[in-house]
Amino acid sequence: MSKERKTGRGEFSNRFGVIAAAAGSAIGLGNIWRFPYITGEYGGGAFICVYLFFTVALGIPLVLSELVIGRKAKKNTFGAFKKLAPGSFWKLIGILGLFAAFFILAFYSVVAGWGVNYVFASVNDAFVSKNPGQLNDLFLNFIKDPYCPILFQVIFMVLTGTIVFFGIKNGIEKNVKIIMPVLFVLIIALDIRAVTLPGAKDGLNFIFNPDFSKLTAQGVMSALGQAFFSLSVGMGIFITYGSYIKDNESLVKVSLSVPLADTVIAILAGVAIFPAVFAFGIAPGSGPGLVFITLPNIFQQMPGGYIFSIFFFLLFVLAALTSSISLLEVVVSFFDEELKMKRSVATILATSIITLLGMVCSLSLGLLNDYTFFGKNLFDSLDWVSSNLLMPAGGMAISIFIGWKFGKFKVKNELEKNGSGISTVILSGFIFIVKYVAPVAILIIALNGLGFIKF
Ligand code: PHE
Repeated sequence: MSKERKTGRGEFSNRFGVIAAAAGSAIGLGNIWRFPYITGEYGGGAFICVYLFFTVALGIPLVLSELVIGRKAKKNTFGAFKKLAPGSFWKLIGILGLFAAFFILAFYSVVAGWGVNYVFASVNDAFVSKNPGQLNDLFLNFIKDPYCPILFQVIFMVLTGTIVFFGIKNGIEKNVKIIMPVLFVLIIALDIRAVTLPGAKDGLNFIFNPDFSKLTAQGVMSALGQAFFSLSVGMGIFITYGSYIKDNESLVKVSLSVPLADTVIAILAGVAIFPAVFAFGIAPGSGPGLVFITLPNIFQQMPGGYIFSIFFFLLFVLAALTSSISLLEVVVSFFDEELKMKRSVATILATSIITLLGMVCSLSLGLLNDYTFFGKNLFDSLDWVSSNLLMPAGGMAISIFIGWKFGKFKVKNELEKNGSGISTVILSGFIFIVKYVAPVAILIIALNGLGFIKF
């Protein structure tokens, strides 16, 4: 053993800590910001049905696959494949995951920074007596500004870096255990307000009455991308977090709790947002600005809206924080274990590089808007490439690894490490999915979404 492991790796202290951290990674802007606007863009209920199907059929098995790999190897994503399949190309999955972490955190921190700004705007009562058009302008002028969004993005990254700096138990676990329950209570409060708005029915119809004729091939691909993005699956987050889970913990329980919590919060976020979208006559497909325009609208019209607005955006930032620390942890654990950096140095370096990329990303919405890739600015490109390509590709590779290389026998051993047996039906079903269903399905959906094949 080299000196790096002298102090031992970090470890979560108990199940609540594990689930709070894993669910904390899954629950974030993917649920509160991305899910509503993507659902709006792809037509509502039918999109949600497909997304739910992917979450259950592919998401759960993939979360479990990652946890198995992580806990078995007790290493960062790259190191895990190096250890479990020495001398092979499988470790490239780790590299893919690293890229995904860089890309996602870059644009994610920009959006989280918008949230930080909206906390201050709420405190200053900046939304009061503004109509939807004015709130729209307020938002667009802000995100195009060359300085302000960057300032807030940096504040957010410093927060993220600080938590990761203190490690698994004292940094990540301690914080998520407080943040996650508060988040849940707040979203329920917002839901109660939203469904009692006049005209809420149209919004609820939009999410709960699927119209499958609105579904397109890109819609299906985006539903897959959204399922992966929202679950944080396919890029090694659960390999990394799995490596900090004790052997006596049930991985199956974690793999079920996380998607459940994530889905419930996504639906609750939809219920909080769409009634307001319809009640105030905003187009549901109005893109990334959706929550920043609709929610201030609700807040200024509801009793106690001033306080709720502050709470909501605070929680927006906190939910983002529990996800961004998981992204940063993927990079930091790689720098620490593979490049043999001290954790503190690794944290500072990773935070700095990602912050710089995030700055360019923010500028791509204003000053650098003319620089595009396939018609998309950097912000949209990073989002699209990571959720629709890197994460599904990673998920496919991980499922192939578990199904074909790691194999049923080792999976069984890992799942039974906590002392409880695993039923043969569940085990065989799981292996069948990761061996055949997931790789084939992901490939077909991607080829279809990209227009290489047509149904
Ligand atoms: N799942 C997170 C969210 O919903 C985002 C994320 C994606 C986090 C990928 C980690 C990895 O906000």
